[in-house]
Amino acid sequence: MAAGNDKLIEVDDLSVKFATPDGEITAVNGLSFGLERGQTFGIVGESGSGKSQSMLAIMGLLAINGRASGRALFNGEDLLSLPARELNRIRGNRVAMIFQDPMTSLNPYLTVERQMTEVLELHKGLTRRSALSLAISTLEQVRIPDAARRIRMYPHEFSGGMRQRIMIAMALLCQPDLLIADEPTTALDVTVQAQTMALLRDLQRDFGTAIILITHDLGVVAGLCDQVMVLYGGRIMEQGSAESIFYRPTHPYTLGLLGAVPKLDHEGERLLAIPGVPPNMAHLPAGCPFSERCTFATERCATDRPPLAPAASDRLVLRACHREVIEITREAERVLP
Ligand SMILES: Nc1ncnc2c1ncn2[C@@H]1O[C@H](COP(=O)(O)OP(=O)(O)OP(=O)(O)O)[C@@H](O)[C@H]1O
Ligand SMILES: [Mg+2]
Repeated sequence: MAAGNDKLIEVDDLSVKFATPDGEITAVNGLSFGLERGQTFGIVGESGSGKSQSMLAIMGLLAINGRASGRALFNGEDLLSLPARELNRIRGNRVAMIFQDPMTSLNPYLTVERQMTEVLELHKGLTRRSALSLAISTLEQVRIPDAARRIRMYPHEFSGGMRQRIMIAMALLCQPDLLIADEPTTALDVTVQAQTMALLRDLQRDFGTAIILITHDLGVVAGLCDQVMVLYGGRIMEQGSAESIFYRPTHPYTLGLLGAVPKLDHEGERLLAIPGVPPNMAHLPAGCPFSERCTFATERCATDRPPLAPAASDRLVLRACHREVIEITREAERVLP
């Protein structure tokens, strides 16, 4: 680690581009942030805002048509330029990721025991017997009841909430320094969601794991995160402490997310009530990506992209908006409870 640098991970100007039949799209554009040991960083935004792709880029897991640029220093090593071998050493060991859908990372044909012990035998060189006992105790830590028996079951034999916890257990097996959790609760009902979040909080307290938490839900972020980044159209709209973002939003998009009432549709999916639809990434406006849906937008916003700069009200908050903070604050006082 470089002297004087206490960041566990430091991301600088991260961008992700995809080659598509319609030309190149930039799904993630110029993200920078840092995270210290034991901290939690939230990435918030609607569907398609670039949350998952930014983290998959850091993990070296982009689709074949994707390309990342910028830097992601983890303990001083740039994950974006490490050879595959080196990256594999870090991935699943020092950095672990929980994916949006548990079934994409659990193998349906193998028992949980097999999947958990294999990781330990491979990465940590443990014997079968000690791998098994560590796997069972990790399942107990994520509160899987009767873990010694249940570990012999297949993923489909568990409820959605339990599968999610098994995934968390698998991610924690090697005691990573950084856990990237991609929407760990979207598929779950509200009670199980709350339990999963409480579990992450406990694990962080007990193990000091740094967490990057991806979510649609600013409410989740408020309870768990130190710093937050709000994304739209692959760009940072606002970035700062969770407290400032939640209680003193300075960007119309953040205000929209906060005011949006979560509704349940037929599939039980949470919908956000900001009018309009997320942007077509192949045809973003030249100016602010949110300008088309923004109630504060002026003509300038469509053509002239606002730079990310410290807010006048709080220099530790970064915002990309042409309108004055005071205008957003007045509206926030009017519309938020
Ligand atoms: N392989 C790919 N080729 C082209 N475009 C892609 C590819 N993978 C992702 N994208 C695009 O990248 C953009 C960002 O996607 P991303 O998965 O990061 O969104 P997200 O914020 O995680 O959304 P959600 O909340 O729905 O998971 C989207 O517009 C998506 O369509
Ligand atoms: Mg996603």
